[in-house]
Amino acid sequence: MKILNASQSEAIAEAARIIRGGGLVAFPTETVYGLGADACNPMAVARVYEVKRRPRIDPIIVHVASPEDAKLYGMFPDNFANILMTRFWPGPLTLVVPRTARIPPIVTAGLDTVAIRMPAHPAALALIRESDRALAAPSANPFGSVSPTEASHVADQLSDQIDLILDGGRCAVGVESTVLSLTGPVPRILRAGGLPAETIRDVVGELEWSADALERPEAPGQMERHYATLTPLEVLEEGDPNARPRSGERVGLLSLTDPEGCCTYSAVEVLSPTGDMREAAANLFAALHRLDHLKLDRLVAFPLPERGLGAAIMDRLRRCAVRVSGSRGPGGKR
Ligand code: TXA
Ligand code: MG
Repeated sequence: MKILNASQSEAIAEAARIIRGGGLVAFPTETVYGLGADACNPMAVARVYEVKRRPRIDPIIVHVASPEDAKLYGMFPDNFANILMTRFWPGPLTLVVPRTARIPPIVTAGLDTVAIRMPAHPAALALIRESDRALAAPSANPFGSVSPTEASHVADQLSDQIDLILDGGRCAVGVESTVLSLTGPVPRILRAGGLPAETIRDVVGELEWSADALERPEAPGQMERHYATLTPLEVLEEGDPNARPRSGERVGLLSLTDPEGCCTYSAVEVLSPTGDMREAAANLFAALHRLDHLKLDRLVAFPLPERGLGAAIMDRLRRCAVRVSGSRGPGGKR
């Protein structure tokens, strides 16, 4: 597997050849790295599911380079779609709309709807244009694990299973796109993400949230446990007795700002010393990758205010913290 610098046109040309030939390319977006395949090539998309070990019931986002191209694959309703695309594309907003016949069913996991976005990263847009294909691309990590925000995260997790990684440095947003369904009368958030709900509400007025996605997944991809570290993580208040290491225990702490009395922890990751939520989101997954590499006994995260990007960060942390039977819980085996 090769890693090439995403800012070089030869790298984009090679990546585009691979996509056209039915191969898989990991590429940078402003949110996280994606694992891209030609969206209209069912065999290539099937390989994406295989490499990620992703359940076939979990549909994949289609990435396009313009709103016009989006309309080839989705039927955008008259009400909010145009204004949302004008205001927020390219950017971290995915729109779910009825699909057209161009999209093979494997991309949408058999659903009648398709999720589409135009990413705000020059290398992603260049790759889509140069390959002359829409890219079906989930995050470039094994299903359920921490998403990649650096090329090295992709290399660590998927190494020789893919054809090429385009290295575009660190992802600026750091959490996945907000997924917004436009299939009902009122736009509905299916996944909190890089575009804050408050910002969308300012444009559309009324906004619905899918019923607590942790309890009742509406999008097949809203799996309860996701974004998960191998080391068990809990989200605890600072005063909680379990937030402190017990004697002999090696605990890692994830905190928004510099915590007080943190010297009892084996490692501390501060997401943003000034408490800036954009910076925190951009650092979140890299901090989780680093803590996980230390193979500590457990990880603790202090809750963040759920405003703006805080909603997406807390969504990721809660899902990371869910333990299901068979996963490595406290005291369990790695
Ligand atoms: O920022 C992002 O969205 C990144 C980058 C690579 O673009 N991609 C990403 O893809 O996060 P993935 O596969 O990790 O998450 C896609 C989410 C899943 O929760 C999936 O269930 C949902 O989008 N989704 C896709 N198609 C859908 C559909 N037709 N209806 C409802 N949800 C859908
Ligand atoms: Mg993902």
